[in-house]
Amino acid sequence: MTLSSSFNGLFSPVAMGALKLANRIVMAPLTRSRMGPDGVPNEMHARYYAQRASAGLIISEATNISAQGRGYALTPGIWTDEQVAGWKKVTDAVHAAGGLIVCQLWHVGRFSHVDLQPDGAAPVAPSAIRAEGQTYTENGMLDVSMPRALETSEIPGIIQQYRHAAECAQRAGFDGVEVHSANSYLLDQFLRDSTNQRNDEYGGSIENRSRLPLEVTAAVVEVWGHDRVGIRLSPVTPDAGNTPLDSQVMQTYGHLIEQLNRFQLAYMHFVEGATATSRSVPTGIDLDALRALFKGPYIGNNNYDLDLAVNRRLEGKVDAVAFGRPFIANPDLVHRLKTGAELAVAPRETYYGNGAKGYTDWPALVD
Ligand SMILES: Cc1cc2nc3c(=O)[nH]c(=O)nc-3n(C[C@H](O)[C@H](O)[C@H](O)COP(=O)(O)O)c2cc1C
Repeated sequence: MTLSSSFNGLFSPVAMGALKLANRIVMAPLTRSRMGPDGVPNEMHARYYAQRASAGLIISEATNISAQGRGYALTPGIWTDEQVAGWKKVTDAVHAAGGLIVCQLWHVGRFSHVDLQPDGAAPVAPSAIRAEGQTYTENGMLDVSMPRALETSEIPGIIQQYRHAAECAQRAGFDGVEVHSANSYLLDQFLRDSTNQRNDEYGGSIENRSRLPLEVTAAVVEVWGHDRVGIRLSPVTPDAGNTPLDSQVMQTYGHLIEQLNRFQLAYMHFVEGATATSRSVPTGIDLDALRALFKGPYIGNNNYDLDLAVNRRLEGKVDAVAFGRPFIANPDLVHRLKTGAELAVAPRETYYGNGAKGYTDWPALVD
């Protein structure tokens, strides 16, 4: 295998459902905490995403589907007309630059604070089990609040929040949506037995714990069609307090993935390992075996560099690779990977907040 053919493996076009990617480098979702209190994107955010439009696909930063789904200050939303109009600026700019962008639909579940919730209410969760960890509020970093368990009768309302957000994303001109079922947020909380101790049809058995992620996917597919919907999973990522994983990761996520096959989604996207931390997985867990259960395009993510991406493509383990942190300081990441150019490294202080600084001021290399 020559270097150029392996390069072709990474830089060649690929169809994921109705999404026609020009290359297999995907921009992973990155919360940058640069919105105002209304969660409305503006020209600065449009510029940031357009600068990165040479990615085969951009997955937007996690975007709140409702006021209740919000767990961090300064994050965007996709449930009001103002938010739709703001995102339209972003999608227009990305399209004008030749790119594709899907919206990552987010409900944080228990990982929130009363200050971030409508009327100071408790965050909602599968069960009243408090998460460990702190979140960013208008009053600084605070311990997340004690959640309350959702009533069974409230679940259709949660699904409706996803449906409404999916419709808003359509009006905002996105090319599709990604269901955020990763990183210990609401759908992952329902899936895992460490956070779901319900005794209704949404708790207990693996089938029951998979029900909400599947019903949400079905609702979103009804809005968008199956071929413009992807899903993100992180089977071994612990939550902020290192809460134990699901007690049967292979069985739980295996069941979910087998059930997802019936939708023929555009793609499945895994965080391989612990998100932004390590690619190692606990003994007995085989993420490639889980991935192989999915009968559709697959995006791999987490601590990739060019060599790992090329090798995993050569081995047929991934259809595309999502890069997160490298896209912060390298808006032209695709070009840099293709030419072997050195990558800039974004200091942590630039990740969140601070307006245009450390956000839209990273230069592209000029040929
Ligand atoms: C600053 C920052 C923000 C992130 N925001 C999100 C997010 O909004 N949604 C999500 O699913 N993952 C989020 N992640 C995780 C990334 O998408 C990705 O999984 C992680 O950074 C590992 O990929 P990388 O090694 O290429 O950076 C975030 C990570 C970082 C560093």
